[in-house]
Amino acid sequence: MKILLRKSISTIQADALEQNKLKRSLSTLNLTVLGIGAVIGAGIFVLTGTAAAQHAGPSLVLSFVISAMGCLFAGLCYAEFAATIPVAGSAYTYGYATMGEFVAWVIGWDLILEYLFGASTVAAGWSGYVVSFLKDFNIIIPPHLCEAPFTHDSSGWHLTGAIINFPAVFVIALMTAFLVIGIKESTRFNNIVVLIKVAVILLFIGFGVSHIDMSNYTPFIPANTSGTFGKFGFTGILAGAAVVFFAYIGFDAVSTASQEATNPQKSMPRAILWTLLICTILYIAVTLVVTGIVHYSELDVAAPIAVAIDAAGRSLFWLRPIIKMGAIAGLSSVVLVLLYGQSRIFYTMSNDGLLWKCFSKTHVKFQTPYIATIIIGGLAALMAGLFPVGLLGHMVSIGTLFAFIIVSTGIIILRKTEPDLHRAFRTPFVPLVPVLAIIICLAQMIALPLDTWIRLIGWMVIGFAIYFTYGIRHSKVRKGRK
Ligand code: ALA
Repeated sequence: MKILLRKSISTIQADALEQNKLKRSLSTLNLTVLGIGAVIGAGIFVLTGTAAAQHAGPSLVLSFVISAMGCLFAGLCYAEFAATIPVAGSAYTYGYATMGEFVAWVIGWDLILEYLFGASTVAAGWSGYVVSFLKDFNIIIPPHLCEAPFTHDSSGWHLTGAIINFPAVFVIALMTAFLVIGIKESTRFNNIVVLIKVAVILLFIGFGVSHIDMSNYTPFIPANTSGTFGKFGFTGILAGAAVVFFAYIGFDAVSTASQEATNPQKSMPRAILWTLLICTILYIAVTLVVTGIVHYSELDVAAPIAVAIDAAGRSLFWLRPIIKMGAIAGLSSVVLVLLYGQSRIFYTMSNDGLLWKCFSKTHVKFQTPYIATIIIGGLAALMAGLFPVGLLGHMVSIGTLFAFIIVSTGIIILRKTEPDLHRAFRTPFVPLVPVLAIIICLAQMIALPLDTWIRLIGWMVIGFAIYFTYGIRHSKVRKGRK
């Protein structure tokens, strides 16, 4: 069938070598910092509190471990693909090479949920932190300029009376400008920001650890609430894992930088695995400190680390503004890298003819896909400025989990279809590792609310409509031009 047409790996490798208009300047260290830039953000600074209070209590640390295992197994699959097919399209291209054009389109469309919606969601979180930080200095941004004008609840859509979430639009515009100017400039900004956010987290862990009250860890796994799935107990740990999965999203963005890496075969697997390792250790430590200082029942808040500092007493008050600044810096780099990843995926899809040509046009001087970057920035700003994107957080998670499942399946298929292909990195224990990745990701998807599934299906239907009216007719593989 034509929609199952695959793009051969040798063609993809040759294209990447010959037609690469992107600049190769990133080392393993740059790529790891890029990964940490995308990963540490709203997940740890915002979601940890509600996940502990509503689902897992102190055992949230186990939720972080489960989610990390799923990411590690999926990350090992990403690593093989990224080292073997080092192109900007990431999961989209891996799908093209193993399962054909239609699946590739499905992943490409699905990744918009991860990257574009993810950037909008985190930008809204950024706005919340900026407003609260400025308020501490008596600078008040009027609510109608920092909230979304539309809101949604069980009775439908409503107007809030606000005009626009201006800070969210601002951060997206600023990050878009960085991305247009160049990857080197963007990574320089990202490096500084990552240094700040990791330092702030280490400060919190270092000073917070002595304020832990061991009694807050008992019971470590609170009893399940009257048989309800996800309300504490073992199912609570699983539901917690589905929520905190958001905190790991972004490590795969490293693979979208393959075409800009100086030595992708070596750097890709290393950067993906380093990113996961460093972030997992930091997350586990922060969760232990937060749930050790404050009883989990008091953590149903948007700024759990700040609450933990308050609970630790006056001696740690000096850390409060520093934590907020760390979060503001940290969330901005997540927006940067997610927008970056989205532009590189659109760049590749457009090069393949599945999206309009303008998305792959690169700037003569900056060597960046500037039109794709500006359009993506515009869409992300519109969403972040107008809609209650907090609602979309679950969409971001389900979309990413779905992509991880397809990539892990792809590794099993690639071992059968191309057993002799030279691989600079091999996923260990295939098919065990990809199968475990699939099981853990699927379990987290199942733990997400039903509405999220319905929205995912709706989103995919829109994607199919675009593919069957545009992509299928312009595909270069189909026309035999690739
Ligand atoms: N992992 C990113 C965050 O937590 C998306 O903000």
